[in-house]
Amino acid sequence: MSSTNEIRRSFLDFFAREGHRVVPSAPLVPYNDPTLMFVNAGMVPFKNVFTGLETPPSPTAASSQKCVRAGGKHNDLDNVGYTARHLTFFEMMGNFSFGDYFKEQAIHHAWTLLTKDWGLPAEKLTATVYHTDDEAYDLWKKIAGLPDERLIRIATKDNFWSMGDDGPCGPCSEIFFDHGASIAGGPPGSPDEDGDRYVEIWNLVFMQFEQEAGTIVRDLPKPSIDTGMGLERVSTVLQGVHTVFETTTMRALIEASADLTSADPASPSHKVIADHLRSTSFLLADGVLPSNEGRGYVLRRIMRRAMRHAHLLGASEPLMHRLVPALVTEMGQAYPELGRAQPLIEETLEREETQFRRTLANGLRLLDEATGGMGEGASLDGETAFKLYDTYGFPYDLTEDALRSRGLTVDREGFDAAMARQKAAARAAWKGSGQAADGELWFDIAEREGATEFTGYSATEGEGRVVALIKDGAEVSSAGAGDSVLVLTNQTPFYGESGGQTGDAGTITTPEGLRIAVTDTSKPLGRLHAHHATVEAGTLKAGDTVHLWVDAERRDRIRANHSATHLMHEALRRRLGEHVTQKGSLVAEDRLRFDFSHPKPLTPEDIAAVEAEVNAEIRANETVSTRLMSPDDAIAAGAMALFGEKYGDEVRVLSMGRAGEERTYSVELCGGTHVRATGDIGLFRIVSESAVSSGVRRIEALTGEAAREWLVAREEALKNAAAAIRVAPEEVPNRIAALLDDRKRLERELADARKALALGGGGAKAGPADEDVGGVKFSGQVIEGLEAKELRGLLDEAKARMGSGVAAIVAVNDGRAAIAAAVTDDLTSRYDAVALVRAGVEALGGKGGGGRPDMAQGGGPDASKADEAIAAVRRALESAPATA
Ligand code: ALA
Repeated sequence: MSSTNEIRRSFLDFFAREGHRVVPSAPLVPYNDPTLMFVNAGMVPFKNVFTGLETPPSPTAASSQKCVRAGGKHNDLDNVGYTARHLTFFEMMGNFSFGDYFKEQAIHHAWTLLTKDWGLPAEKLTATVYHTDDEAYDLWKKIAGLPDERLIRIATKDNFWSMGDDGPCGPCSEIFFDHGASIAGGPPGSPDEDGDRYVEIWNLVFMQFEQEAGTIVRDLPKPSIDTGMGLERVSTVLQGVHTVFETTTMRALIEASADLTSADPASPSHKVIADHLRSTSFLLADGVLPSNEGRGYVLRRIMRRAMRHAHLLGASEPLMHRLVPALVTEMGQAYPELGRAQPLIEETLEREETQFRRTLANGLRLLDEATGGMGEGASLDGETAFKLYDTYGFPYDLTEDALRSRGLTVDREGFDAAMARQKAAARAAWKGSGQAADGELWFDIAEREGATEFTGYSATEGEGRVVALIKDGAEVSSAGAGDSVLVLTNQTPFYGESGGQTGDAGTITTPEGLRIAVTDTSKPLGRLHAHHATVEAGTLKAGDTVHLWVDAERRDRIRANHSATHLMHEALRRRLGEHVTQKGSLVAEDRLRFDFSHPKPLTPEDIAAVEAEVNAEIRANETVSTRLMSPDDAIAAGAMALFGEKYGDEVRVLSMGRAGEERTYSVELCGGTHVRATGDIGLFRIVSESAVSSGVRRIEALTGEAAREWLVAREEALKNAAAAIRVAPEEVPNRIAALLDDRKRLERELADARKALALGGGGAKAGPADEDVGGVKFSGQVIEGLEAKELRGLLDEAKARMGSGVAAIVAVNDGRAAIAAAVTDDLTSRYDAVALVRAGVEALGGKGGGGRPDMAQGGGPDASKADEAIAAVRRALESAPATA
């Protein structure tokens, strides 16, 4: 007997030998298909290859693909634990031909692997074909020699496979294994085909068509092959057991559950737990986190269902997370992502179970009370089911599951009605709050479509289905070139502006040539994503499937700025103290801005230290990690609580930077997008620090290429300065200090030289000769470049030199002139310096002038009249009344 792991290996090895390229499993979240909740078949990652949109990785391929069938078209959640073969998580092994081989080769490969390599007895195998597919019928006869009673034509959609309402499809041929007469059930197509005797192990799909909304719309470019063999089912056959829960992998998980709970190993609850452990762990490893919407809610429903079964088994502590090591041992080699995500899976499961256990017992008590007197076949009222959902966190299907073993059902319509009433109340409350008028429209859309899902934490492109188009404030059914519209899709990688982070920009396209430019994304009601867009080419219609491309380079810059904001916040707290709290934040593509409480300006040393510390964390290049936690747990883990923000059931906790003794460098609650590792930030530079209001400071900073460009521009300026003063850049500061000293010294020398010139000293040019004006000594002079403030000193010296007389000097500077006149004390009774200087001022085109009788000063705009000003003073002196 081979283990499940060996069977997977041998399947892939067989097809590798047959020339197929073995490709790893794609993640469970199908980013290439908005119509699917989870990958539910091996061909999903190749959907666009079959339809011709993408080129094949190679002409043929083989894989073992992770699949989840819970929520959406293929939903097995309700059956797990109640049948021999239903699982929410399973592995689909398959071989694919993309226009290479077709039916004959596909049947040949299948028959060879099953009967030769795996040695299954041919007489235990039965095949079905689509009733009109004579070609397949004849090939089975030729290749396998199947007798008529084991080659069955089926007319129903059982033998026409499609991945959903949209996508590739075609007739198929299924291979069944007969577990023998001891098990109840009939061959396919017979009335008791649903028994467990004949089990379908392999489906060969002859892919030929593409459908839209359930109708075939075109032929595929080339006939192709898609096959799917459930690993767990074929393991039952090869391991000689009857149910998937007895195969080696599932048994290992069931044993782990039985060991940890010490409960009866035969309890069906172990099966539910083993299956749900796989689906939840793999979904978590692929980035789905529990929430109240979309994929996250399906995950939560599966988790809570398992947790109720753990409770049924009498587990007194959270159980699920303690089973993860067994799962990693069993499947971690084939799926390395499981080991990588192990801490995240364990933490999330433990938190979810701890939280749920708080209400589980009370909810079950309420359920018991409400159903106490009910007999088999009765139905629980919708109000109670809704109360269990709303107050105790019981997803609808958990209530159903809890009642199923007692033969009770739930009133679904009553449940839906109660849910609708609650939504109406929320809308009324919102309307009463007087918010924007277009809110009505958003509520209509949110109620009709549910929240739109953000897929952009890990991806920057993906597909979405257009659920609403808004033009000029009203919903429209289509938009054409030139239209400005808001586009809403059921899922999007575009981040909607929130938490200070700018909304994403990018493009929306279809293969048919539609092109829409998205300039911004917002988040109406906090749960819808609205792309602000202009149609550039083509026509967009509600219901269309479109490809959404975030401008990834722009997003990278935003990421770097956001992550740097977290590092800086922490660096500021460490440098300045715990009183530093965020008061506002803007994370844009070109810069980051952060407002925080602090009473005084940062010193240059503070800024340098914060900058150095952030850059050290960047260089440490530690991986950034995200966890979902309850708000209380997040704060206990060291996350900074941001007051004034409203949090839901749980919060995203972002840890970043080096691990310290108590915790990682930065731990914050944050819904934004971040770098993968701090090194992606590249470089961090603070470019300004200022006051916003009293007690609130603002820092603006740059990262990555923007920071580098800023530094380059600074260096360029320094280089130019260095070239101008002809030194090496590093000598600029010393050189400028020396030049400034020189300048001061020269100014002093110049002033001294001018003074000397004015006084006629210094041995250079002789000063002005004193004139005799009406019997009084007069000295008049014009000095270029003299500062007005020097005038007084010069005139004092002139008076001393003359002993008795009148002196006037005009100082000419930059086209303006200042004039001062002085009268020796013995003459002040006869001449007034103020009157004299006013005559000069007038000549200079100025007004006024003032001082004392012995010394007065004034000025005028017309320096070209300097000589005339002296002449005017002379005339005033001549005409002054001669008094005794
Ligand atoms: N895609 C086919 C299936 O899922 C093989 O059954």
